[in-house]
Amino acid sequence: MQTPVTILILAAGLGTRMKSRRAKVLHQAGGRPLIEHVVQTALEVAPAQDVFVVVGCQAEQVEATIGGYGVGIIRQAEQRGTGHAVMVCRERLAARPGLLVVLYGDCPLLAAATVRELVARQAASTAAATVITTTLEDPTGYGRILRDEAGYVCAIVEQKAAAPEELAIHEINSGIYCFRSELLWAHLDELQPDNAAREYYLTDLVAAFRRAGHLVQPYHLSVPTEVLGVNTRVELAQVDRLLRERKVRELMLAGVTIEKPETVLVDAQASVGTDTVIEAFAQLRGRTRVGEDCRIGTGAILRDSQLGDGVEVGPYSVIQDSRIDRGARVGPYARLRLGAHVEEGAQVGNFVEMKKTRLGAGSKSLHLAYLGDAEIGAGVNVGAGSTITDPVPPDALALGRARQVNKEGWARKRRKKAPEK
Ligand code: UD1
Ligand code: CA
Repeated sequence: MQTPVTILILAAGLGTRMKSRRAKVLHQAGGRPLIEHVVQTALEVAPAQDVFVVVGCQAEQVEATIGGYGVGIIRQAEQRGTGHAVMVCRERLAARPGLLVVLYGDCPLLAAATVRELVARQAASTAAATVITTTLEDPTGYGRILRDEAGYVCAIVEQKAAAPEELAIHEINSGIYCFRSELLWAHLDELQPDNAAREYYLTDLVAAFRRAGHLVQPYHLSVPTEVLGVNTRVELAQVDRLLRERKVRELMLAGVTIEKPETVLVDAQASVGTDTVIEAFAQLRGRTRVGEDCRIGTGAILRDSQLGDGVEVGPYSVIQDSRIDRGARVGPYARLRLGAHVEEGAQVGNFVEMKKTRLGAGSKSLHLAYLGDAEIGAGVNVGAGSTITDPVPPDALALGRARQVNKEGWARKRRKKAPEK
């Protein structure tokens, strides 16, 4: 029989080093809040009824963000450290047998395969816990791993509490662990807030296990990327860049051509069909879905919009909450927002703004127009400059501009009144 696994994600902290009023795990990287990345990874490893999230700072917003996933929520009213965050879960989780995986909500690059390997290694060993470690060129801010002669972990020392020779250690604690549940709950209350921050450190559990004669084994990752944590906005930007690289790479491998991929921004939930070409500096935000054989021009920004197959979006178009059907062409310099709908084969040209408007199949509005709150049927040609406010019958030409008046000699008279300097 397989060992039962529970996953606990700690996400209650404010994240003081972010210098933000918003809880850290709500900050976005790769177009999605940090906590959502971690929850999704957890759900690739275990079903929702075995995944729990500890929330505290801005609990309502964090709960709203992950509410749809059906994971368990546990409140930590006061944030008294990572150890304390686990302590508040005793009632809900202590009766669960098997293994308990702890993940930190500020570590969004972690892959499900790594969590599965962590679980497999713990399940195959007699150690009390397995901890993921890695070696960083600059380990500043992370807990350092102290090992015994046999290579087991004998303690984790936090940056603030570390002696100079410990600060020189480059092997760090990722904050990702797999515990034997029963031993975790047996020793958790031995943690003491006897440090400068007056916090209960989960990392002190390693030493507690050792005192009781249990071993803690390291699972060392040779590539540190996956366990990079976010404490500051500089780290947020680094993690964002890595997530974006990952996304465009996935798309390219799935058959999308991306020119200058390092300049293209695609959010985690956006999707793109095969043989679509994305030009440099384009952005696909939110839940944008792009069909096959499309072309997205340079500098175009698409947000929460749907594009059918064979759609062409010209450079520097800005498209939000809108829909463009098969074979339609939009831009360059078009602005679509709030439920604009360009039907099959229709064309929208430069400096055209559309809002809450349907432009019927094959219709055109090729330059300088505002189409707002309008129903435009099929095969219509909207010229520039007219203001059309009333319904237009089929087969008609509607003109809504004032007639041109020429005032003969007007400029000459004016020059006489005010002689040139
Ligand atoms: C922690 C580890 C450190 C490790 C690093 C890896 C401890 C004491 N230190 O440090 O060894 O190298 O992560 O990234 O564990 N949280 C709560 N409740 C609290 C406090 C924190 O839920 O009371 C959550 C936070 O929201 C965050 C996570 O726990 O998601 C980690 O907390 P953080 O303060 O970022 O720990 P670090 O100082 O980075
Ligand atoms: Ca952290």
